[in-house]
Amino acid sequence: MTATPPAVELHVHVEGTLEPELIMALAERNRVELPYADLDDLRARYAFTDLSHFLDLYYANMAVLREAEDFATMTRAYLERAARAGVRHVELFVDPQAHLARGVGVPVVLEGVSAGLADAPAGMTTGLIPCFLRDRPAEEADEVLDALLASGVPLLGVGLDSAEAGNPPGRFADVFARARAAGLRLVAHAGEEGPAAYVREALDVLGVERVDHGIRALEDQALVTRLAEEAVPLTVCPLSNVRLRAVRTLAAHPLPLMLGAGLAVSVHSDDPAYFGGYVDDNHRAVMEALHLTRAQVHTLASNAVEAAFVDDTRRAELR
Ligand code: HPA
Ligand code: ZN
Repeated sequence: MTATPPAVELHVHVEGTLEPELIMALAERNRVELPYADLDDLRARYAFTDLSHFLDLYYANMAVLREAEDFATMTRAYLERAARAGVRHVELFVDPQAHLARGVGVPVVLEGVSAGLADAPAGMTTGLIPCFLRDRPAEEADEVLDALLASGVPLLGVGLDSAEAGNPPGRFADVFARARAAGLRLVAHAGEEGPAAYVREALDVLGVERVDHGIRALEDQALVTRLAEEAVPLTVCPLSNVRLRAVRTLAAHPLPLMLGAGLAVSVHSDDPAYFGGYVDDNHRAVMEALHLTRAQVHTLASNAVEAAFVDDTRRAELR
């Protein structure tokens, strides 16, 4: 079966594209001491037990990102890889708060990532979606939103990520309302490790237009019916789900169930440098492991195009 090329990537964290080789190179460039003997020692730490275990390494490795140029380098490397996968539109997550503790301010992060995006390969469109960290105080998210809006860097939307269990979305209602008033699109991670109730709360309290992951929505039949009726896009990341043990194996992934329930699911990569593959790898892996039909593969690709925050002209080009 020929694969439909994954034209649209809607769920990728730029810091999650930091490949081990680039971590080592940036550590040298910035004279940052890493607690790893060598590349193999770093690679040996990628066997995760859950989301928090992954997040510990993900945040620790960000120590090598110091200057705007580091963020630009990382972003350019990702876009080149995405172009090789056939991606023509990217909505890129970034975690500004994750850099504040090292004294790397919001303007440096945004300036660097947006400089990288400005060098996107010909024919590729991009948008930037900073995410608030749900395991940090809502007041901090409020300050970060001020800094985001003051930066002058064009933003597509805001999201919500980091450790989900015990961190329901509702605390961020005010900051999401402010972001919406500022004209930003709204998304949130929900139902990755957290319960279906968090998906409901993200929709009802934050007013998100798209849900990142959402696999645990399947535990609530009324919610599934609503998500299908309202055609709420769910950006599913199969290799991530397996590596973070949200799902036992790829062959046991609920993607076919979600498609069968009429949910607007699409397939994405999350943190490709950590989870064993970019969006093309994720598509190939689910096609093989789940024996998807040609029609199902087409639906996944088409759902991604329909879920993108683009105007009608661009959507028609991506179809
Ligand atoms: N889940 C939640 N937060 C994240 C992730 C993820 O998979 N990757 C980066 N931040
Ligand atoms: Zn994610």
